[in-house]
Amino acid sequence: MTMTKNIPAYDFDLFSDEGILNPYEHYAKMRKLGPVVYLPETKCYAITRFEECYIALRNSDKFISGRGVSFNPLMNDTPEMTDSVITSDAEKHKFLRKIESEPLAPKALSLLRERILEAAKGLIDDLAEREGELHDGVRDIACYLPFNIVMELGGLPPVGRAQMLRWAAAAFDLLGPMNARAQAALPVVQELLTYVTKDIDRNTITPGSWADRAFRLADEGVITQERAGKVIADFIAPSLDTTIAATSNLLMLLGQNRDQWELLKKNRSKTANAINESLRLGSPARCFSRFVPEETTLDGVTLPANSRVAIFFASANRDERKFENPDLFDINRSNASEHLAFGTGAHQCMGNNLARLEMTAILTSLLDRIDYFEVGEPVYALSNLLRTLETLPIRLHAKG
Ligand code: HEM
Repeated sequence: MTMTKNIPAYDFDLFSDEGILNPYEHYAKMRKLGPVVYLPETKCYAITRFEECYIALRNSDKFISGRGVSFNPLMNDTPEMTDSVITSDAEKHKFLRKIESEPLAPKALSLLRERILEAAKGLIDDLAEREGELHDGVRDIACYLPFNIVMELGGLPPVGRAQMLRWAAAAFDLLGPMNARAQAALPVVQELLTYVTKDIDRNTITPGSWADRAFRLADEGVITQERAGKVIADFIAPSLDTTIAATSNLLMLLGQNRDQWELLKKNRSKTANAINESLRLGSPARCFSRFVPEETTLDGVTLPANSRVAIFFASANRDERKFENPDLFDINRSNASEHLAFGTGAHQCMGNNLARLEMTAILTSLLDRIDYFEVGEPVYALSNLLRTLETLPIRLHAKG
């Protein structure tokens, strides 16, 4: 790929341990340099300001996904790795999205609302009984609904479930450049692909689940048998880690900012805004890439034909041009809901309503039963694509 002369370079590896653990100062420097910067380490152009990220995401005919959304050629150039809803364009994308989105649409989710709320309430009631005990907010709270409800909706047998977290984490590492993390993830993702395309025994699938639905679509001839496995992977891989990351981050921010927790307790109508604000600030999916097949201009900057660009959702969400005091957690922020944590446009997250439902259920249950909670030092995971916590010490104090 040739580099355009008028585009400044930012010579730092954003996928190194340091770039993963402390990304925000780098995003701020990149935003300052210009609307587009070149990343020599990753050999791609980075879009880090809100407006330009928005434009790129909304112009999916110029910034395409069908040539992959990762940062390494193996993932982007191997057809079996890019044959999914997130890595398709135009008619193929529309078709896959239509058949896959039905169980995640608001209508289907409204039937689940009570069940998810009940499950969250049960969990928080149980933890509230154990007043003052030290828990891990990631393992003991954030993982609960994705494991107990979402895995059940997926309908895969326990053998698949046990592996899911390992597979999902590897899938996100393999979206990065081919560094040591991505290389280690490669055989693990191969296991996932083999599992969904060859090893699932239909007799072990829960009737009425997402997996069951995919196989029924294949029986009806709407999709091929092989596609059924890929549809299952499209659902399962992105539905766990992302929501776990987002819920852990919500707990961390409300634990670290007691004033915001107290504000929320007094004004519970701010629950949705608090969730949006945590998604804005924590942006679990830090970036995805796009391919630019034809020369394209973005805010006066010419991107050459055949460019690979990185769209940094996490940086756009902290753009000072869009969000005042962007590093501040403010549940009253008037434009918090305009974040790009779920992307926007054709590929906007299909599971965003489910993720919001799970986060709302946990937060509502906490507000019902818990007076306040304290959090300890969080430990971030080293993931190429996900901003996520490994552990978050948390102590809940029940209402009197
Ligand atoms: C807080 C949790 C979540 C976050 C932050 C998140 C983030 C994202 C983002 C940023 C995209 C856009 C990718 C792009 O533009 O290339 C996306 C797409 C997608 N997400 Fe999520 N996601 C979350 C939860 C979920 C859940 C729970 C599911 C499934 C049950 C899911 C399934 C998908 C799928 C299938 C796509 C591809 C959509 C398409 O290409 O048309 N996500 N997600």
